[in-house]
Amino acid sequence: MRLGVNIDHVATLRQARRAREPEPVTAAALAELAGADGITVHLRGDRRHIQDRDLRLLREVISTRLNVEMAATDEMVTIAAEVQPGQVTLVPEHPDEVTTTGGLDVVQHQAVIAGVVGRLQAAGIAVSLFIDAAPDQIAQARRTGATAVEINTGPYADATPDGRTAELVRIQEAARQAHEHGFEVLGGHGLTYVNVKPVAAIAQIVELNIGHSIIARAVLVGLERAVREMVALLG
Ligand code: PXP
Repeated sequence: MRLGVNIDHVATLRQARRAREPEPVTAAALAELAGADGITVHLRGDRRHIQDRDLRLLREVISTRLNVEMAATDEMVTIAAEVQPGQVTLVPEHPDEVTTTGGLDVVQHQAVIAGVVGRLQAAGIAVSLFIDAAPDQIAQARRTGATAVEINTGPYADATPDGRTAELVRIQEAARQAHEHGFEVLGGHGLTYVNVKPVAAIAQIVELNIGHSIIARAVLVGLERAVREMVALLG
């Protein structure tokens, strides 16, 4: 199981004061030293945390894969083509949300998403789609040309103890379906040191993207320790 460490909230802390620190590039390097297999950042339209310069510097400095989450807009396609990250993950984005609230609606927006996937792939960039654990979404994702899907683990993370098993089963079934369709299967959103193990045990999922929980722990115990502790849980 690979771990992609999402360092958005290092930038959140910096932007809280419009300051120069903490530096996301330093965080990325420390996360890599501690065993991260990749670095993930979300370049939002409102630039609330990660900035354009962060992308360029991260692309230069990190030695693992840079995965950039972004909305399927012309602005973002242009930036990705210039920065050339190892992967783009297309996500839905709403200006008033605190964090990503669900997967892409590939059923509704298949043509637009397929167009953006094609443009990114023509620029040499691998594309993953962040989607909910729903059979119709996975079936439609095949028609976009994307080679990977990241299954939204948010509903599992947010579920009450009574509802958690059902959400886990949904992820397990979605992972199996996506794998059968030939996708590389990733997972992420809302995963923590407490809830990650059952998701990490799903055979078809090869990578988890985890941000808030790792950075929250890092504030208290240091980033290297926080990353190492998550790597140990992933087995
Ligand atoms: N995957 C995707 C597609 C996301 O949008 C996010 C949040 O930016 C994450 C994973 C990481 O979520 P969290 O910060 O809750 O671990």
